[in-house]
Amino acid sequence: MNSSAPKSLDNAAEFAWQHDDVFGRIASRYDLLCDVFSLGIHRLWKRRVARRIADEPWTTLLDGATGTGHIVLSILAHEATRGRRVIASDISPKMLAVAQRRLAGYRERVELCLLDAEGMPSMPDGSVDAYSISLGLKICHRRRALDEAFRVLKPGGRLIVLEASNIRWAPLHRLYLAYMALCMPVLGWLATGGDASAYKYLLQGVREFPSAEDLALEIGRHGFVDVQFERHSLGIVAIHVGRKPTGH
Ligand SMILES: C[S@@+](CC[C@H](N)C(=O)[O-])C[C@H]1O[C@@H](n2cnc3c(N)ncnc32)[C@H](O)[C@@H]1O
Repeated sequence: MNSSAPKSLDNAAEFAWQHDDVFGRIASRYDLLCDVFSLGIHRLWKRRVARRIADEPWTTLLDGATGTGHIVLSILAHEATRGRRVIASDISPKMLAVAQRRLAGYRERVELCLLDAEGMPSMPDGSVDAYSISLGLKICHRRRALDEAFRVLKPGGRLIVLEASNIRWAPLHRLYLAYMALCMPVLGWLATGGDASAYKYLLQGVREFPSAEDLALEIGRHGFVDVQFERHSLGIVAIHVGRKPTGH
């Protein structure tokens, strides 16, 4: 994963929910698995992206591939989002069930929806002010998901993406990938009781996902403007932000 390598895979992890209900199987252990795989650092990334999302101007936010609702909970807890509304969506009913329990305290401000980020026909064009997707783009068909994000956003609407990225110093990035390839199967095997899918997709997605620079270009090619990104944890993840132009 570096900016000079060709990026042919639109779906970095080659994951298709229609063929493998891995998130359904691991829903009750998902948060624990995040702690195990990231050594707890995902909490920091999720806090950062939640703050970034909260700081953007929106009244209605659609969070795609929301998972167990960790990030949505952090967003709603921000004082700045008081009175604003969040649609938390995912393709896995079991992940959504965990999110529903977690977000029970914010029932009047959250709507939970079963939506495929690659095609959301029930969401009208230009219906939300902001769209976020965290750690979900690498397991979706990126082109379709970004097209849908663009379609459902109002003109001027914000896109916020948290995703795996690249450590800029290539030797360190290779070392990180080697560590992941070595440790993840062992940790994953132990934590999932032998369900290899959970870490197979994660590893493949991290390896094949575009660099932060390339993802910014891709987002721009989908029509977004003012695309910016910030790296976190040396570049292990990045947060990208873009805006749908007015007049669209
Ligand atoms: C790695 S988890 C990320 C969850 C959450 N955003 C987080 O940061 O913890 C990926 C989520 O994407 C969901 N997912 C996978 N493919 C999807 C799709 N095509 N549309 C919507 N959600 C999808 C899975 O069910 C899972 O909950």
